[in-house]
Amino acid sequence: MRYYIEDLEKYDGQEIELKGWAYNVRSSGKVKFLELRDGTGMVQCVFFKGDCGEAIFDAFEKITQESTVRVIGTVKKHQRQAGVFEISVKDCEILAPSKDYPITPKEHGTDFLMNSRHLWLRSKRQHAILRVRAEIIKAVRDFFDGRGFTLTDAPIFTPSACEGTSTLFETKYFDEKAYLSQSGQLYMEATAAAFGKVYCFGPTFRAEKSKTRRHLIEFWMVEPEVAFNDMYDNMELAEQFIEYVVQRTIKNKAEELRVLERDISKLEVIKGSFPRLHYKEAVQIIKKENPQFIDGDDFGGTDETIVSSKFEKPVFVHHFPQAIKAFYMKEDPNEPGFAMGCDLLATEGYGEIIGGGQREENIEKLLLKIKEHQLREEDFAWYLDLRRFGSFPHSGFGLGIERAVAWICGLPHIRETLPFPRLYGRSYP
Ligand code: 4AD
Ligand code: MG
Repeated sequence: MRYYIEDLEKYDGQEIELKGWAYNVRSSGKVKFLELRDGTGMVQCVFFKGDCGEAIFDAFEKITQESTVRVIGTVKKHQRQAGVFEISVKDCEILAPSKDYPITPKEHGTDFLMNSRHLWLRSKRQHAILRVRAEIIKAVRDFFDGRGFTLTDAPIFTPSACEGTSTLFETKYFDEKAYLSQSGQLYMEATAAAFGKVYCFGPTFRAEKSKTRRHLIEFWMVEPEVAFNDMYDNMELAEQFIEYVVQRTIKNKAEELRVLERDISKLEVIKGSFPRLHYKEAVQIIKKENPQFIDGDDFGGTDETIVSSKFEKPVFVHHFPQAIKAFYMKEDPNEPGFAMGCDLLATEGYGEIIGGGQREENIEKLLLKIKEHQLREEDFAWYLDLRRFGSFPHSGFGLGIERAVAWICGLPHIRETLPFPRLYGRSYP
């Protein structure tokens, strides 16, 4: 039988065997302490000469940080901390050594830690972040699976651009060219016509030559698409989705968020409907604090922060100028020049976490947009078919998982939100 630290309370008073790694060791004369981690949790193992005998007590000295150990002992309630268990050690064996583990309790520089990412993942903080990430992903899937959406994942090798040609990763596809997917959206528009409510969830790639706190080269995106939803239905879906993911994560990952010292009160209010601003209204707010902002421009990081700082909930900005949005965005017939797109800006300066909107369903208009964006019509022949054979209004959005993880965990930088981040200038380890 395998025992895990996360289940210790079930074994109160029993003798069990644990296998794991030495997180920390310290001694205070007659008692020695091994902080053991096994991936599911941490437990203090107490070496007391009277319980484990002299040989094991002395062997303790050979246990170094991150060596692999097997411990046999009795599960006991901690004397002072309620709900905490410890192990009174009877026997202990070093299964594999670890000499001069490079990550020590002292401060390390970011570059060093990023180069040591494969080891850094073992630390308490990184462990907590990635457990929160896993919960967020599960919540994302449960939300859509529980509402009749069908998972229809998009390909990664694609023949054309979805989000502009400037950030495309080109690769060989035997004798042809292909690009790594920037977004699964165009494919979701096809599957939406087959299944009504669909989503995809997978890695996406952007060759963004910028080092920011918010940009990854490879990131994971969840993209729902719904037939017959307009831009307003799309915002309703997005706010219900965000509420579900945030509330479920703070409920199920309270301990991890405590380790991260996240102010939960800021997340508890992420409920109900979110404020909605027309682009022009958002510009008014921005101009008060950033007079240099030019009407018609896209928002920079600081502009997003100016807008979001006025609200305690995430805020939608809709009707961006058509000129700064992707070719597939529907222009509002009642407001020429403005697109029926809606982005969601997170609270606390985390910026855009969702981008989406209503798609152009009219083939003539779409053909014009493809030309204007200097895209090749033949690459989009299949996409145009969706407008030829039973066109339909439809909307969807994309949530960048890592931006959501950074926001929910309260992290200053996106690089810690996934196990092995790909950043501009970094593809190791
Ligand atoms: O706003 P974006 O570019 O929208 C799309 O790709 C749409 N095709 C999605 C859709 O409607 N199905 O990207 C969507 C989200 C952003 O709001 C952001 O959260 C994230 O993806 N994102 C990035 N995350 C990390 N690093 C990057 N370089 C990102 N680029 C976008
Ligand atoms: Mg966007």
